[in-house]
Amino acid sequence: MPRAGDEQVTFQPMGRRADPQPGQSLLQLAQSAGVGIEAPCGGKGLCGKCRVRPEGRATPLTPAEKALLGPDTEQGLRLACQTALPQGGAVWVPPESRSQRQVILTSGASGELELDQTVRAYTVSVPPPSLERPEAARERLFSALSAVAADGLSDSPELPFSLLQRLPGLLAGGGELGLALRKGREIVSLGAAQQGPPLGLAVDLGTTTVVAYLCDLDSGKLLAVSSEMNPQVPYGDDVISRMSLCAAGPQELAKLSRAAVECINALAVDACAQAGTDPECILECVMVGNSAMHHIFLALDPASLAIAPYAPVVRGPVEIKARQAGLALGQEAWLHWLPLKAGFVGADIVAAALAVGADELDQPTLLLDLGTNGEMVLAAGGRMLACSTAAGPALEGGHIAQGMRGAPGAVERAALQAGAASTELRVIGGEKPVGFCGSGLVSLISCLLEAGILLPSGGFDPERGRGLVRPGANGREFLAAPSGATGHGRDLVLTSQDVAEVQLAKAAIRAGAEVLMAEMGVKQISQVLLAGAFGNYLDPGEAARIGLFPPVPVERILGVGNAAGVGAVMALLSQKQRVRAKKLAQAMGYVELSGHPLFQDLFVDSMAFPGGDA
Ligand code: FES
Repeated sequence: MPRAGDEQVTFQPMGRRADPQPGQSLLQLAQSAGVGIEAPCGGKGLCGKCRVRPEGRATPLTPAEKALLGPDTEQGLRLACQTALPQGGAVWVPPESRSQRQVILTSGASGELELDQTVRAYTVSVPPPSLERPEAARERLFSALSAVAADGLSDSPELPFSLLQRLPGLLAGGGELGLALRKGREIVSLGAAQQGPPLGLAVDLGTTTVVAYLCDLDSGKLLAVSSEMNPQVPYGDDVISRMSLCAAGPQELAKLSRAAVECINALAVDACAQAGTDPECILECVMVGNSAMHHIFLALDPASLAIAPYAPVVRGPVEIKARQAGLALGQEAWLHWLPLKAGFVGADIVAAALAVGADELDQPTLLLDLGTNGEMVLAAGGRMLACSTAAGPALEGGHIAQGMRGAPGAVERAALQAGAASTELRVIGGEKPVGFCGSGLVSLISCLLEAGILLPSGGFDPERGRGLVRPGANGREFLAAPSGATGHGRDLVLTSQDVAEVQLAKAAIRAGAEVLMAEMGVKQISQVLLAGAFGNYLDPGEAARIGLFPPVPVERILGVGNAAGVGAVMALLSQKQRVRAKKLAQAMGYVELSGHPLFQDLFVDSMAFPGGDA
């Protein structure tokens, strides 16, 4: 008789135990047990990144696993999403399969930002009622407030019922009260006099990372920044995987939505702890994110985003009470989502355009937010045109044999030693390398092009490779680090297929930019602004070297930090900036690239790398 507990699965080295349910893969079991395993394809058996070594009676190896794992099956490796241990056992999760916290970009929100308060704090002196004037407490409160409200009080002021219920206790007779007034109309907090300033939270809900900025709404001061990996990542690296999970039913959408909401609540707690305050004091929240993150967070079925013509459920700003979305902030706090432009041009790119002042840029400027979707805006002379290219996940390390996110162990920069006899790698966290993140890939490819080891066609030249280029399982590969120098004890290689994936990604981005140029009649771009994490860790010269975007002098390629987050902070601090964001989204033109007459030809033309000697 097996003893109770014998059928448990133990994930190592975490030591986390869980009871397997019928039909549950090891990946699903790991997720339910809070064990992070990389799953860029969302558990579809396509990416090969969820490798684990089960010990026990595992379900039989599937043909898909054999194809993806190749010789690694001989070392007992399996795909967690395709394998189960119904009778329990142990599972070793190797370092390269563990979800790691990505290096999260939070920079950018510095300097003076315009202040035009949505929420203002007041101290009011409310007189007691009298026999001559037996006015209700609420009316006496409004009268007292109208006497001090800086921009006047609306003709129809509002006191939410939850605050009305508190009024008798606060105002036994008369006395001083502290309150916060939103847009001159609604009282959103009420308490004793001398409360702290009203606080606001700006949130950039990215597909991979979530960043929250806590601000003092009176002074505009940034009080704290808190960030975390998006907890939806285990359900798929990209928005397509997550949208297809949502298609499985409303409970799946609710699950993903809840994950994002809980993450933001935790960030609010953390940011408030840093600032010595309480999330209850947050009275206003502004959010940005791509269209899929927007829909999923708001629990709006994203199905229409996934199929042509990719129409969102709502495009304009969404303003609701924060608690309606599940946010545990002030009881009467409001949540404002900046507008989307289109199905794949979200509030994040609108916010980034706001941050860089795209509506006022004179010289042709390309604003690029690179990720799975290369969202971009070409701005010139007050005109703006946006598009989104399906760049694929290669530039985030996806679809790359040994690709990974920008986490510890990822190669972020490469240089060839004299004579191209070996490669010097700079690795995040100073550890031994276990994979390439996007900037590392671009860097290595750029070096190999420079050395002539990689040809403009994307093929390796074994002659120039001096023993580092060798035959691999699927064509030639470049040995970046031998097994003895890596963190996983295997050779770290760049395969021909990896190079082809990068070519596809960069061709999509370059062709998208050139379509925008053609549509706007722009012959030459004068600057490129790189927003987001990948853009900021990218070396401008190396990006130009692989032909990621149309030619522009290297000194005019600038990283602009987390521009989407900065745009969110701007909109948090200023009503005028919210109005500007709305106008900006309306004024921005949109080009749908699928089916565009120029796109396919430009895409094919952009596949090759620029000449090897350039
Ligand atoms: S192959 Fe298992 S998550 Fe992608």
